Amino acid sequence: MSNRVVIGSQWGDEGKAKVVDFLTLDADVIVRFQGGANAGHTVEVEDQKFVFHLIPSGIMHQDKMCVIGNGVVLDPIQTLLEIEDLRQKGLDTKGRLIIANNAHVVLPWHSAVDKLKELKAGKAAIGTTGRGIGPCYSDKVNRIGVRVGDLLDEKELRPRIENMARIHNEEFKLMFGADPIDPETVIKDYLALGQQIAPYVKDVSEFLYKSLKDNKRLIFEGAQGTILDVDQGTYPFVTSSNTIAGYASCGSGVGPKAIDQVFGVVKAYTTRVGNGPFPTELLDEVGDNLRKIGNEYGATTGRNRRCGWFDATVVRKAAVVNGLTHLAITKLDVLDSFKEIQICTHYECDGEILNLIPNQLSKVGRCLPVYESMPGWLSDTTKCRSWDELPQAAKNYLMRLSELVDVKIGMVSVGARRDQTIVIDMN
Ligand code: GDP
Ligand code: IMO
Ligand code: MG
Repeated sequence: MSNRVVIGSQWGDEGKAKVVDFLTLDADVIVRFQGGANAGHTVEVEDQKFVFHLIPSGIMHQDKMCVIGNGVVLDPIQTLLEIEDLRQKGLDTKGRLIIANNAHVVLPWHSAVDKLKELKAGKAAIGTTGRGIGPCYSDKVNRIGVRVGDLLDEKELRPRIENMARIHNEEFKLMFGADPIDPETVIKDYLALGQQIAPYVKDVSEFLYKSLKDNKRLIFEGAQGTILDVDQGTYPFVTSSNTIAGYASCGSGVGPKAIDQVFGVVKAYTTRVGNGPFPTELLDEVGDNLRKIGNEYGATTGRNRRCGWFDATVVRKAAVVNGLTHLAITKLDVLDSFKEIQICTHYECDGEILNLIPNQLSKVGRCLPVYESMPGWLSDTTKCRSWDELPQAAKNYLMRLSELVDVKIGMVSVGARRDQTIVIDMN
């Protein structure tokens, strides 16, 4: 019996939700532990498609508990929209969703400043999702934030909002020439939102501690990806949270010994949304084909995802900083029609060979990807349900990826649906 962390191992959108949904069959509690509504997690079950931004992807399974941990920055409006969307599709969240009372709240100042800063940055813009993530985490660390529990008590909320209004409205005026946001309106609106989410709000770490004592099986659902991690990624072109496996513990309030396995979700190729370096990016017809066949358009913002070949220096880095125990390789089927497939095995940089994508942005910019080529399989993998059913060239490709990053393959995904999954080695 294992508690698993599921982590994006590239630049996000690797198919984490599909993998979490599948692994949930074998779990009791699913926990989001970082990020916020910048995430777009797609689950397809039979003919229904759900995109989650905050609610854990395990919610599709009616008998499982879902938890939003303290490390998440919670937008209550988005949360309620997702709850309502699920209700309309026949899925009740009452008694099955828990929100940490010590998670921070994304407020109107956060999304406004996120967008204003990006506009002002011009060419240096990060290409954020505009969901207020960076500004909310800044306020958290700066100790001026508002937490979910504060929404339930005007005595707690009022002084915090008044303080935040003083600081941010001044910033709005001086830095952006923007209109202030009225603190009284925010207090009124967010107390009302607090009443709506109140039935879900609890001490999450206490709940998880009891779950672990009762031998419940946990899945920690990562958002974004390793190379978007605020410390390990291509800083400053990153998100504002730690996206890596170690943060599952901090962001949910459980001890690190609770985690047994770390699944690194990787696309059989690479994508990135937003700005920043992407050494294996394909700016040609091949990249366009990957985008079209892979339907690579952002689940949160609808932006085109930039596409490129698999980059072993990226996934090796993920293996190193997350301690990956398994790979979950997704979207193998997207490569079905490619005659030749390239893999970046390492970089050459300043006369050196690099096996890991470097931490310094300027150095990443000087890296030249070195490729090896493998023959494609030119056949349909979407109906394969076992290793043996896969074409030999596809097996060779998968084995080469695993060998290059030195992590065994736990599962392979050959389509968006839950049943389009091949289990290899989950031990
Ligand atoms: P996440 O953010 O990591 O959960 O990934 P997204 O949901 O943003 O993007 C992954 C997209 O790929 C979604 O539309 C999924 O439905 C889809 N998907 C997941 N696995 C597969 C797969 O194996 N093959 C194909 N063709 N699509 C997949
Ligand atoms: P999931 O969980 C892909 C990217 C943004 C931008 C950078 C910073 O669906 O994989 P932010 O709004 O977080 O301050 O933006 O991070 N980004 C993602 N890219 N998938 C995501 O989430 C992302 N969440 C943020 O595009 O480049
Ligand atoms: Mg996504």
